Amino acid sequence: DDGLVVLGIETSCDDTAAAVVRGNGEILSQVISSQAELLAQYGGVAPKQAEEAHSRVIDKVVQDALDRANVTEKDLSAVAVTIGPGLGLCLRVGVQKARRVAGAFNLPIVGVHHMEAHALVARLVEHELSFPFMALLISGGHNIIVLAHKLGQYTQLGTTVDDAIGEAFDKTAKWLGLDMRRSGGPAVEELALEGDSKSVMFNVPMKNHKDCNFSYAGLKTQVRLAIAAREIDAKCPVSSATKADRRNRADIAASFQRVAVLHLEEKCERAIDWALKLEPSIKHMVVSGGVASNQYVRFRLNNIVENKNLKLVCPPPSLCTDNGVMVAWTGLEHFRVGRFDPPPPAMEPDDFM
Ligand code: KG4
Ligand code: ZN
Repeated sequence: DDGLVVLGIETSCDDTAAAVVRGNGEILSQVISSQAELLAQYGGVAPKQAEEAHSRVIDKVVQDALDRANVTEKDLSAVAVTIGPGLGLCLRVGVQKARRVAGAFNLPIVGVHHMEAHALVARLVEHELSFPFMALLISGGHNIIVLAHKLGQYTQLGTTVDDAIGEAFDKTAKWLGLDMRRSGGPAVEELALEGDSKSVMFNVPMKNHKDCNFSYAGLKTQVRLAIAAREIDAKCPVSSATKADRRNRADIAASFQRVAVLHLEEKCERAIDWALKLEPSIKHMVVSGGVASNQYVRFRLNNIVENKNLKLVCPPPSLCTDNGVMVAWTGLEHFRVGRFDPPPPAMEPDDFM
């Protein structure tokens, strides 16, 4: 244990999160305030509403994280904060909070890349996980597969040419009339358990592309058309649907999930082959980001990865979806090697406005 203690702040999308993590990987606290319920009223993430929601809770979320960790700002070694990618308005709330805390207590700041944090949190979970390794990062806004050579040095092997898989899960949930007060992915996963995954024959995307890129826009359209063809009414919640209607919806959910994941499987297989040529010593494949909390995704990708003689590292669901721990941990990794910004001035112009 190097004695470091870092506060992490995450506001890039619709969750306001903070956590305190020690240098030895111990999670001292983890706090999340979700806006899913609020944003469901707007049918998705609305930047202005999201910013206001972050602003309302940010002070409390950070204070709770410190209190639950039983530390004060004076015990911190640094403050880590997500600086992108994400909604600018939302990121700003987190960055301003980080600068206020760091300014008042003379602490260095570590700016963290959200996707790097999704990948590196796997090193907190699995102590054996050393560079180089591969990472498939699957969330609502991103769908990338990278080769991590060393801290801060990554080769992107593939990305989505349109939508990310999480976006396809969210739209499928919406069109199937599933409960959107939480995010769509878990609702589709749950309903899919009741369905026949071979009942609707969706096409696997990009069959003829010999690359490692992804595409989910076409599959989304296929799902929308299948839902229209079966005359499913999204305004009728699945909880009030007839038995036959519910079964129809479950079949679509299961068939969508099977093909969406098959696309991941095919691209992962190819990406592993590519990566092993560049870095033959790779032993691990990380799968992280919100969609990695899906049990079917984990199961199928584990088969692919094991067939290639690699080990799958999937953080627990609470560390796969957006959280403050991944930001604090990534901040720690960079802080240790001297990558941080000096403390900002205690009073910033914003404070006078
Ligand atoms: O990483 P994350 O929390 O936020 C972003 O950075 O986007 O990922 C959120 C995405 C959403 O699209 C959500 O529907 C999806 O992850 N997700 C899931 C599951 N849990 C969350 N998708 C499929 N199955 C799940 N169990
Ligand atoms: Zn994320």
